Formats: sequence, structure tokens, C-alpha cells
Amino acid sequence: MIAREIKPGVWSLSAIDWERKLFDELVPLPEGTSYNAYLVRGSEKTALIDSVHPKMADDLLAALRKLGVTQLDYIVSNHAEPDHSGAIPALLAAYPQAKVLANVKCRSLLKGSFDLPAETLTLIQDKQRLSLGDRTLQFLWVPWVHWPDTTITYLEEERIAFTCDFLGAHLATSDLYADDEARVERAALTYYAEIMMCYRPNVVKALQRLQELPLDLIAPSHGPVHARPEFILDLYRRWSGDATRAQVVIPYLSMYESTAKMVAYLVDRLMEKGLSVQPYNVVDLDSGRYASSLVEASTLVFASPAVLDGPHPAMASAAFLTNALRPKARFAAIIGSYGWGPTMPETLRAMLPLLNADWLAPVNIGGAPKADTYAALDRLAEEIAQANAEGAASDVE
Ligand code: FEO
Repeated sequence: MIAREIKPGVWSLSAIDWERKLFDELVPLPEGTSYNAYLVRGSEKTALIDSVHPKMADDLLAALRKLGVTQLDYIVSNHAEPDHSGAIPALLAAYPQAKVLANVKCRSLLKGSFDLPAETLTLIQDKQRLSLGDRTLQFLWVPWVHWPDTTITYLEEERIAFTCDFLGAHLATSDLYADDEARVERAALTYYAEIMMCYRPNVVKALQRLQELPLDLIAPSHGPVHARPEFILDLYRRWSGDATRAQVVIPYLSMYESTAKMVAYLVDRLMEKGLSVQPYNVVDLDSGRYASSLVEASTLVFASPAVLDGPHPAMASAAFLTNALRPKARFAAIIGSYGWGPTMPETLRAMLPLLNADWLAPVNIGGAPKADTYAALDRLAEEIAQANAEGAASDVE
């Protein structure tokens, strides 16, 4: 780890995890990730904002020693998840006089994960200001982006918002700043989809709180620092807003090619109508790519064969993920094929109670597709095209 100064007396201490392939045993990390702590040296006090993953605690301590930090007064915990708070016990062992600042929810979660001495934990309130001498920190509560405890710490004099997970990206890079905006946008989109999308109303509220602040830098705890804050703020406004794109995402799988033939036919008809279409085979689903495509899609079509009286378990898993992510799609449909039991659509739909979409009539057939199947798919394609055209006034072009 190297310390890099982002403003006078403000240092990025980024633990770059080049090797990590998976987060939470769930989220693919095709480009690794980083855990960023930030050091703020005031004329009287020194504060560390967030820490790093516990496996990289020694790197953080070595970087602090190299910077000559002999006294650490505050450790601000914006968020208790261990990838940002897991090095706090090691920090307290090295700097036993430091106070850990956390809001009431964060304090409770920290207590659940770590055996921290009670006297070290100090509560912070929303909008509370803390003087470091010639520097002032302000704490803004922004709960549920993505845990209930989240705080943004704002350094007033340097106009830096330390946003922890919010506005971050899983990206291992030597770039200190988000200069490669195309690359950062891809990583930030996937991160938003997986972590933030299900809390869209809270994302909007958090953006409104940031809008009140003059900003030179946004310094998240994953990925590079934003020296052009409007870049990431504009993306988040678009992703979290109500507008959708005329895009159809089709999670599917097939056992005897019947559902696959239906999907191929529907994809062609939708493309003929000028819609953007993205099918995903859910048997080996890349959940990061799939989640990213849900961020602005207007329409979801679930395509599954029946297993017993419900969807194939791989589709049930995709439906569980979709329901948990709560995409803003406005239209949804189910298509598929069964051997002997026709109840798959009802069972699958019941797995998606949080998908707040208008459901179009399913196309569910016994056995292989025939002329009447293709006619029904023609009607579904027309319905999807019409629904999207009617909603186009508020769609993103
Ligand atoms: Fe990066 Fe919610 O922790």
C-alpha cells in the first residue's frame, strides 16, 4: 500500500485487492476491488476515515507508520461491514487512545462483529461537526445505501465527501482518480446494480443530501477517487431515477430446446421492432452482468421449462436474485414449455413479489412450439413494443 495525497494533509490509503474474484461468495469481481481508508491531518487532531479489509490491516498500519502517524485521535466508521471496519481492532491495538466515531446503528453493528472496548466507541449525530483544528468534519447519515448504518463524512475546508460504499466501484487499479471514465462506469454500474439498486429511493435521498454540499472530490471506499464529481453523480441520478430504456432482458434456460426455440423466436421479433434485447442463460449466469442489465431495462421476460409444477431451479434462483435486486422494469412476462404440468407461470410469478411491473399474458405450452405458439409470441412481441412505445415519453432515448 502507498499513501497518496489527494489534498493538502489528506491521504488516500488504498488496499488494492488485485486477486479477489468473488465478494460475499456471490458477486463476481472481474477486476478485483480495493478497500480505501483516508487520513485527514488537522492542526490539532488526526482522523482516519474508514479502514480496510482485516486481511490487509498490516498494510494499513505500515502505511500510517511511514506517514509518521504516531497519534491517531479518531477512527470514523462510516459503515460497519468488515471490509471497511475489519481493521479497527488492529488500529486500536496500535493506537489505543483513538476514539471510534460511529452513528447509533453503526455502533450497534460494530459491537456485534468486534470486541471493542466500550470506552473507545463515541456516538456521532446527523449533521454533527467535529473540529480537527484547521479542518472540520461533518457527518451526514444516509441510511440504507446499502446498510442501515451508512454515514457520509464531509471535509468542509477541502470539499471532499467520503462516501464509503456509496458511489464506489469494485475496481483494482493503480489509478488514483477515475480518469478512465468508461472503465469506471462499467464497474460502478455493476456495483450499483448489486448493492444499491434495491434501495433506489434511499439512493435518491442520499444524492439529495450530497447536492447540498460544494464538492471538489468524492472519495469512496472502493475504487478510484472522483475528481469530477458530476460524472458519478449524473450516472447515479440516471440509474436511480424512474426513467427506463426500451430494453428487454430475457433470463432463460431450456431442457429439450422448446423454451430455447421460443426465446430465439421472440428475440428476433423484438429486434425487428427496434427494441434492445439481452438474453441470459441462467444455468451459468454471470450475476454481475445480469444485474447490470437490469438497471435501466424496461421489460423482463422470464423463460423457463417446468420442473415438477414450478420453474427449473436455476430459473428460481435467477428469480430470487431479480426479486431481491428490485429492478425498476415496468413490464414483465413469462414464457416456457412443460411436459405434463402447466402451472409454472403462476409459481414463478409468485417468486417475484417485489417486481413492481405490469404483467403481460404468459405464453406457456405443452411440449414443442408449434404454429399457435409462434402466433402467441408474435402477440407478446407486439404487446411489449406497444407498452414500450406508450411509455416512451418518460424513457431514456
Ligand atoms: Fe464495502 Fe458494505 O461494504
